[in-house]
Amino acid sequence: MGKINRLKLAVLVSGSGSNLQAIIDACAGADYPAEIVLVFSNQPDAKGLERAGNAGIEAKSLAHKGYPGGREAYDHAVSELIAQSGADLVVLAGYLRLVSESFVKRWQGRLINIHPSLLPSFKGLHAHEQTIAAGVKYSGCTVHFVVPEMDAGPIIAQAVVPVLADDDAHSLGQRILRQEHQIYPQVIRWIAEDRVVVGNDGRVAVRGSQSPDFAQINPVNPQG
Ligand code: GRF
Repeated sequence: MGKINRLKLAVLVSGSGSNLQAIIDACAGADYPAEIVLVFSNQPDAKGLERAGNAGIEAKSLAHKGYPGGREAYDHAVSELIAQSGADLVVLAGYLRLVSESFVKRWQGRLINIHPSLLPSFKGLHAHEQTIAAGVKYSGCTVHFVVPEMDAGPIIAQAVVPVLADDDAHSLGQRILRQEHQIYPQVIRWIAEDRVVVGNDGRVAVRGSQSPDFAQINPVNPQG
């Protein structure tokens, strides 16, 4: 059996790294077409770095605080680390830092992010709080290509979850995270299989995929 040629990933994290873990677990599958060549964090104590270490993956960090030369210089250094790793795709997985325009330009088309809302709703920080405050009945998560504008860029996939009447930001966030852990490895697989096509209109098609054709209502009344 020939060895598959795997897409090389650099995964950038700032915190817990549960999405990183989902990707690590997916990469352990014999037929998964991607592998992580670098985990990077701007927080030297990020749990994600530990997860990388446990999996025997190269982990690097560079504290952004007090970095000489500011954001541009910092992002340039990060770009260089990514380039040295030989990564084909840069995966932002809870990387809680705005990346500079030159960073985005360097990796554009090879840079993806996951956000815990149904974009374009509830961009930026505190997406769950924003969602609950708005009173919407559904939320979810979005995987998208990164462009210079924050939480914008061509949308590759979304997963939807209901917002329950007694949800707080934590319970909603946990429900959404479970979906994040499904769709992020799935999208990376599609990219590795070269099935993701961005149209001139910015809409993304995934070759060979299907979209569900059904509706759901939240809330439901069991009595009719
Ligand atoms: C996730 O909710 C993700 O959507 C957002 O940051 C969070 C990261 O969680 N961008 P984790 O570090 O992967 O557990």
